[in-house]
Amino acid sequence: MTDPREPKQAKGVFIKTYGCQMNVYDSERMRDVLRPLGYAPVESADEADLVVLNTCHIREKATEKVYSELGQLKLTKQARGGNLTIAVAGCVAQAEGAEIMRRQPAVDLVLGPQSYHKLPEMIARASRAVGDRLETEFETLEKFDALPKTREADGPTAFLSVQEGCDKFCTFCVVPYTRGAELSRPVDDITMEGRSLAAQGVREITLLGQNVNAYHGAAPALTNEADWTLGQLVRHIAKIGGIERIRYTTSHPRDMDDDLIAAHGEVPEMMPFLHLPVQSGSDNILKAMNRGHTADEYREIIRKVRDARPDIAIASDFIVGFPGESDADFEATMQLVRDVDYAIAYSFKYSARPGTPAAEMFGQMPEEVKDARLQQLQQLLREQQIAFNRSKIGQTVPVLITGKGRNPGQAHGRSPWLQAVHFELPHDQAMTIADLVGSIVDVRVIDASLNSLSGELVKVREAAL
Ligand code: 5AD
Ligand code: SF4
Repeated sequence: MTDPREPKQAKGVFIKTYGCQMNVYDSERMRDVLRPLGYAPVESADEADLVVLNTCHIREKATEKVYSELGQLKLTKQARGGNLTIAVAGCVAQAEGAEIMRRQPAVDLVLGPQSYHKLPEMIARASRAVGDRLETEFETLEKFDALPKTREADGPTAFLSVQEGCDKFCTFCVVPYTRGAELSRPVDDITMEGRSLAAQGVREITLLGQNVNAYHGAAPALTNEADWTLGQLVRHIAKIGGIERIRYTTSHPRDMDDDLIAAHGEVPEMMPFLHLPVQSGSDNILKAMNRGHTADEYREIIRKVRDARPDIAIASDFIVGFPGESDADFEATMQLVRDVDYAIAYSFKYSARPGTPAAEMFGQMPEEVKDARLQQLQQLLREQQIAFNRSKIGQTVPVLITGKGRNPGQAHGRSPWLQAVHFELPHDQAMTIADLVGSIVDVRVIDASLNSLSGELVKVREAAL
């Protein structure tokens, strides 16, 4: 007989994350809720007892990748005589639900983004092979309440979820359907998580939400104040000892209020980077997308943000080939890009998502037109990205060290403008790179490419925590 006092055999969980930073964050939280059940994270499906695919439904390609991965996992499961639990989480789970199990019967569990706190219970149920294997209801409030308030930090940078869901209903987008209505966490909960991260050595926090600047969370208890805005939250989080850098993502132009803009100039911890997706530069298309603003209104926001913080890096997302997009509409997008001059931007071909209004619109564009426009736009965005990176050559910039670089003796870090930075440590340097992770150091930028800067260490500004 086994001794009941013997520690339980550790099990392995492999979580594969697709899509946005919200999913990266959710995967971390799933690891946290599974840890007390004896599940330790492993590096691949081969070592795992439980595989979770945390999926993305935003474009069709992302969804198809999930089904092909599930086909592979089915083979692994068969080879092991069924000894592998397969769970599908995230937005494909939310959107397609039972359909996933019909298409791939090897799947044991399907759970939407609002149900992660139920994962341990569902695994227990699945292992007893009884009960419901499907959990995709919207219960966001309960979700925030049920998750542990503290978490294990992994390095000097961390995401902190402050807001979930979206009420904007852009006509191309599945997020309001997969992630549900907009909901903000109370300031006190966020502060507690922020303090716990800082105590574990986190120096840079990215406040995370689908529509993060729509934040309106309950003010700290005892203040009797109305809900706080993101600007107020940023100023509050900046006061947590140890937090040197704050970012937030992703924002909507409609929610870019003056106080948040002012915070970019006034809060030293606020990093000079703003991801403000515009999607299109044409007023006709912006209207058909239900974005709620014009191209000139967007230009005006960017002007105000640059007034507050002249060196700010502006980032965006674009969609080309939205239904009805004419050559002139596309040219308006190109003109907006020339006017704004982006540090970095992500661009996509429009992908019709079932259930969204744009999927039913007239004027769906041929693939060749989308391809040609995407190439043209990406060419311009690449030129701007390289030019932005090269503008830092010769400057000395503060770099948060996050780990080892590509080559031995090289460290890797992050500039205030979210650029990856590689630099050599001097050979006589007594400290190793591991000692320096979490420090902010001055690096003189020597060279720049599309995706990174390289430079040399000027001096260590602060000791590692
Ligand atoms: N087709 C193409 N791109 C899309 N995005 C969202 N939905 C679609 C779609 N149906 C893009 C938008 C958004 C980013 C996360 O993904 O640019 O900002
Ligand atoms: Fe989707 Fe629009 Fe909401 Fe962004 S703001 S998540 S694009 S509906």
